[in-house]
Amino acid sequence: GEAGDHAAPQVRRPVATVGVVGTGTMASGIVQVFAQSGYDVVVVGRAQEKLDAVVTGIARSLERAIAKGRSDEATKQAVLGRITTATGREALAAADLVVEAIAEDLAIKAELFTDLDRICKPGAILATTTSSMPITELATVTGRPQDVIGMHFFNPAPVMKLVEVVTTEHTADHVDETVKALCAKTGKVAVSCGDRSGFIVNALLFPYLNDAVRLAESGVDLTAIDAAIKERAGFPMGPFELLDVVGNDVSLAIQQELHREFGEPGFKPAATLEAKVAAGELGRKTGRGFHTYA
Ligand code: 3HC
Repeated sequence: GEAGDHAAPQVRRPVATVGVVGTGTMASGIVQVFAQSGYDVVVVGRAQEKLDAVVTGIARSLERAIAKGRSDEATKQAVLGRITTATGREALAAADLVVEAIAEDLAIKAELFTDLDRICKPGAILATTTSSMPITELATVTGRPQDVIGMHFFNPAPVMKLVEVVTTEHTADHVDETVKALCAKTGKVAVSCGDRSGFIVNALLFPYLNDAVRLAESGVDLTAIDAAIKERAGFPMGPFELLDVVGNDVSLAIQQELHREFGEPGFKPAATLEAKVAAGELGRKTGRGFHTYA
């Protein structure tokens, strides 16, 4: 074909300011990704302490990079200088792209998208980093479903290169293309996905993680499972280490959604995963999950 067939995606809608909604692990990582790549970032959360914790966490991450000789104080100050925080959603009015990274709950996300539709300027791209909710349903609560898209980052977002770019039947081509171009500009690799439960990665990853919990329930020591997968099978983490990074609450929500969508009996969330969530043992973020952290 023509050379143009393989041209890299272009930014069809100029993006200078990125809004990120949320103060959790994913939100914080996404803020860091954009601020490090030169974008102004407005972070919106409900509580100022949580917003402050996002900035402190990013500062710590940048300090680790300095300690390893990969960055310097001026870069750190420049990155932090691009981040502003706000407790009111009206601060998103000037954003060219908003990435939602709040609770994995459709009603909560739908309420936010209704607000984004009211607040954001015309032509702003409204993205969700949901891992398990139908993006079409978020698109259709707005009067601008053509501007709604999924940008599914992986944890830890500053490190993991993949972003699943999820279009619905409503998403405009130039929104899809702009988001893919932004992924490239932030050092990410975009993969196109349709709006199906689990997209590509989680549709394969979570049944495996759920099976690992079942295997442990059947009496196999979970430390041995982690060691076998990590040391012998070439995975960067064992399944229980990874569950603790992702968060058992997030993992349970994804597994429930996959089970609801595909009905596979084997996709039913493992009892121990449900018990961990009920006990508040969510993983690294609570200091205890399948493993215990200092
Ligand atoms: N933020 C910023 N940087 C981080 C980081 C974080 N949270 N965690 C690690 N890093 C950096 C380190 O600073 C280090 O950088 P350097 O090499 O430049 O010095 C680099 O990443 C490697 O870290 P470490 O040497 O400390 O440790 P590892 O080599 O074990 O790497 C890991 C850590 C990248 C997290 C690796 O263990 C890994 O790839 N784990 C699997 C992660 C994974 O599969 N994630 C996907 C989960 S599924 C998901 O997110 C989908 C969602 O919908 C649930």
